[in-house]
Amino acid sequence: DKGPYRHYMLKEIFEQPESTARTIGAYVNAVDQTAQLPNEQELDFTSFDRVYIIACGTAYYAGCVAKYWFEKYAKLPVETDIASEFRYREPALSKNALAIFVTQSGETADTLAALRYCQENGLTTAAVVNVPTSTIARESDAILPTLAGAEVGVASTKAFTAQLCSLASLAVIAGRARGVLTEKDETHLTEQLMQIPGRITEALKVENAAKELAVDLSKARDVLYLGRGTMFPIAMEGALKLKEISYIHAEGYAAGELKHGPIALIDENTPVVMIAPTDPLLEKTISNMQEVAARHGKVLLITDENGAKVGADTPAWTLIAPSCDPFIAPILYSVPIQLLAYYVAVEKGTDVDQPRNLAKSVTVE
Ligand code: F6R
Repeated sequence: DKGPYRHYMLKEIFEQPESTARTIGAYVNAVDQTAQLPNEQELDFTSFDRVYIIACGTAYYAGCVAKYWFEKYAKLPVETDIASEFRYREPALSKNALAIFVTQSGETADTLAALRYCQENGLTTAAVVNVPTSTIARESDAILPTLAGAEVGVASTKAFTAQLCSLASLAVIAGRARGVLTEKDETHLTEQLMQIPGRITEALKVENAAKELAVDLSKARDVLYLGRGTMFPIAMEGALKLKEISYIHAEGYAAGELKHGPIALIDENTPVVMIAPTDPLLEKTISNMQEVAARHGKVLLITDENGAKVGADTPAWTLIAPSCDPFIAPILYSVPIQLLAYYVAVEKGTDVDQPRNLAKSVTVE
């Protein structure tokens, strides 16, 4: 049932205050402000020398965000891999690694094959998974549930932010176990996690602005998404969302790579979406934005109040997201890129919930 919403995708975007609250509630104890694995499971993070995160599509981008978290908050080296590449590459594996598989359905063929490969090689495995009865959930050593609820729209939205919530919680758990985070750090970070649902409610207020500028954006043939740090995978996810449902060609790039190639694409017909919350990298991203503007590229800046002031004159359009600790920014900034893709697709009149050629669960390779 879509309720008052025109598409499941929009309904699922608007469910994110509840779906993230459920997922965070499974990992964070609100009373003592600590994080732990659900269902009394244990993973000995002091025994792991590295983490492999393996997934496909949107779930892979969640893993790419998690790499930044695990390395920063737990000082654990992370390798991210696309499951279809990993399984055939003959990867050199550390026996002391934790392999994490991120999957909404728990049935993706390549991800399942990668899980079995890791188990044959004696690694500890964990699944960040939305369907607890799925094959990948059943076959993994630990289950890290995402409690997004059933996702009907083929383009993943609430499952993605739930994956980010599980992985963020896991990074805090790992950081604490490894002595990288103090009790005070854990309190601070769990407080940030608990703020996510409320901040998502605020972020959803960009809906009308996204709808308005979708009219212009829907005329583009190509769109570039740029971001730094955790906003780099969010840029890739934004581009994937746009191409999946609007059929506009889009690419996500690390903003610092602009000069190394993609800047050649910039002209007045190639809009650039810059995702730039206030963090230590803001100034650098703003200067990338000015380089784009100097080549007559139209910029859509997605930022907070402060970023909008710093960036002021340059962007053609701005979407304002809530200000927040950089830790949770990738979760909040997922919302404007979802709404943008959604309204561009609506503007183009495509079949939003059932985009052409795509299946919700890819059980053949
Ligand atoms: C994109 C999308 C896909 C899936 C991918 C993995 O919106 O939904 O890219 O993320 O097919 O699927 P799961 O998570 O079921 O393994």
